[in-house]
Amino acid sequence: MTAHENADATPHGDALDKIDTGSAVVTDDGFENPGFPPHKPRQTDLDPQKEKRAERQVFGWFLLSMVGSVFAIVAYFAFPITESDLGSVRLNNLFLGLGLSLGLLGIGFGAVHWARQLMSGEEIAEDRHLTRGTEATRARAVEIFKLGDEESGFSRRSLIRNSLIAALALFPLPAVFMFRDIAPKEDAVEAIAHTMWEAGTRLALDPTGTPIKADDVTIGSAFHVIPFGMDNHAHDYLDQKALAVVLLMRLPAEDLNEVEGRRGWSYDGIVAYSKICTHVGCPVALYEQHTHHLLCPCHQSTFDVTNHAAVIFGPAARPLPQLPIAVDDEGYLVAQSDFTEPIGPSFWERQNHVNNDEHVQVLGQNTEDRA
Ligand code: FES
Repeated sequence: MTAHENADATPHGDALDKIDTGSAVVTDDGFENPGFPPHKPRQTDLDPQKEKRAERQVFGWFLLSMVGSVFAIVAYFAFPITESDLGSVRLNNLFLGLGLSLGLLGIGFGAVHWARQLMSGEEIAEDRHLTRGTEATRARAVEIFKLGDEESGFSRRSLIRNSLIAALALFPLPAVFMFRDIAPKEDAVEAIAHTMWEAGTRLALDPTGTPIKADDVTIGSAFHVIPFGMDNHAHDYLDQKALAVVLLMRLPAEDLNEVEGRRGWSYDGIVAYSKICTHVGCPVALYEQHTHHLLCPCHQSTFDVTNHAAVIFGPAARPLPQLPIAVDDEGYLVAQSDFTEPIGPSFWERQNHVNNDEHVQVLGQNTEDRA
């Protein structure tokens, strides 16, 4: 309904007509509906040349948006962030931000300009109606929708419509390139398949780096352990440490239920397991010495140390990887090898990285080994 139609209508008569269709709200308000002020046509309504120019301007905004989106992608590669170079971060952020801003602003300004200059400028009043109208109301809604399409020129002005669609389609592309680069370039599982542990590496206290003698580990104790000799000034020290951290515990040797093939992986009741939870990688830091359970504080996965850290509760899908240990000539605890499987969260690809010659599978008591 246009302003003129609305102004012409007698409020009560109009509403009473609509009661049958369920689209009217009857009010006891004694004031007469003043209607809308008379419609003032815009320059673009009167002059086809100006209308054409406005159309080109809208196209220009959408084109600018496309240029901005493409520029953001190009800038992302042309100004890469290099490690320890704050200047490169500034340049990358500056040009990436400029491109993304142009991409979004172009769409925004184009849409506003289109609405203000080319879409119908007449005010309309819409009566409130019941949630589901009658067939007549629904038919009217379709009619209004078509009218809106006709007045906005969405179907008719193919240049604007198509450029808007193209701008909207291009705008998310920079995000695709940025998120793609978050993933490691190499095989993601390969990055966690190997740690600094190797045959003969002594087990050392975290964070002091003091090597641990088997005699120092009393029954019931639990140590946080890193490989001996880690260079804490190395640029990848924290990455390497995060992969290699281990929990070392000693329990009465007779309490260990070791499976065939893993009997030689412990030393006199001393066992070592990766500290990285096999659920989503939190540090498993809580040891209950009475129950011999290891608990992950994040989602309460519980691992049974007497049974090769098998999962007995929680969302973790597989036991904590065990580090095979032994004792060297001087009585220090040493690793027999690296872990025989990738540490950390379970991925379907990780099976390809399990060392099948050395790895001995362990099943949980009430959890299947799913990965
Ligand atoms: S990360 Fe350990 S239970 Fe979720």
